[in-house]
Amino acid sequence: MREPNPLKLAPSILTADFGHLAEQIHAAESGGADYIHLDVMDGRFVPNITFGPMVVRAVRALTTLPLDVHLMIEDADPYLRDFIDAGADILTVHVEACRHLHRTVQMITQLGRKAGVSLNPGTSVEAVREILPFVDLVLVMSVNPGFGSQRFIETSTAKLRRMRRLMDELAPLADLEVDGGVDVHNIADVVQSGANVIVAGSAVFNSRAPIGENLARLRAAAVVE
Ligand code: DX5
Ligand code: ZN
Repeated sequence: MREPNPLKLAPSILTADFGHLAEQIHAAESGGADYIHLDVMDGRFVPNITFGPMVVRAVRALTTLPLDVHLMIEDADPYLRDFIDAGADILTVHVEACRHLHRTVQMITQLGRKAGVSLNPGTSVEAVREILPFVDLVLVMSVNPGFGSQRFIETSTAKLRRMRRLMDELAPLADLEVDGGVDVHNIADVVQSGANVIVAGSAVFNSRAPIGENLARLRAAAVVE
């Protein structure tokens, strides 16, 4: 049996207070975040626009944590180098948004960064089968991408199990990341289903409790008995 990859918490700054981004990132780092997850949206692949390499560069200057950059953009190829120059450590592209997915993944790898592939809730695990031997990470979306604070789609846990099984065969060392609607109530289920990199936006950056406290609660709830 494969040893599970270590659990990593990747707070998404999508729901952070951008007026106080530096404090919020420092609080996430001192609260035990493993990565900072950055959601890049282009208003074409998803119905929302966020930020590009400039904000990635600004975040790079605020933390030494690895930057996990989730590209929800069409035709990412011309921008890959810009994101890497800005400080991205992991670049994840969507299978639905890449015409030549293998080439895109190869470009990221050749630029010396970790390459991830993401799939939407409506996309089958089989859609990434051929690319699995080439990626460092698979990101299963558990909401439709575009917005924070959405409800976790319950069938995502079964999908994570199917994905981890396929990865054990074709990409045994790769990480399995889950993104969307993860909170203290379902984090144990996603971990038990094979996810080891956990994105959480609204469960970390909210007005209910301090960032460090939210991270500690998530980590405690993630422990699989
Ligand atoms: C959605 C993004 C996610 C999301 C996470 O398109 O990729 O990273 O913002 O936020 P929550 O955890 O609030 O769903
Ligand atoms: Zn994301």
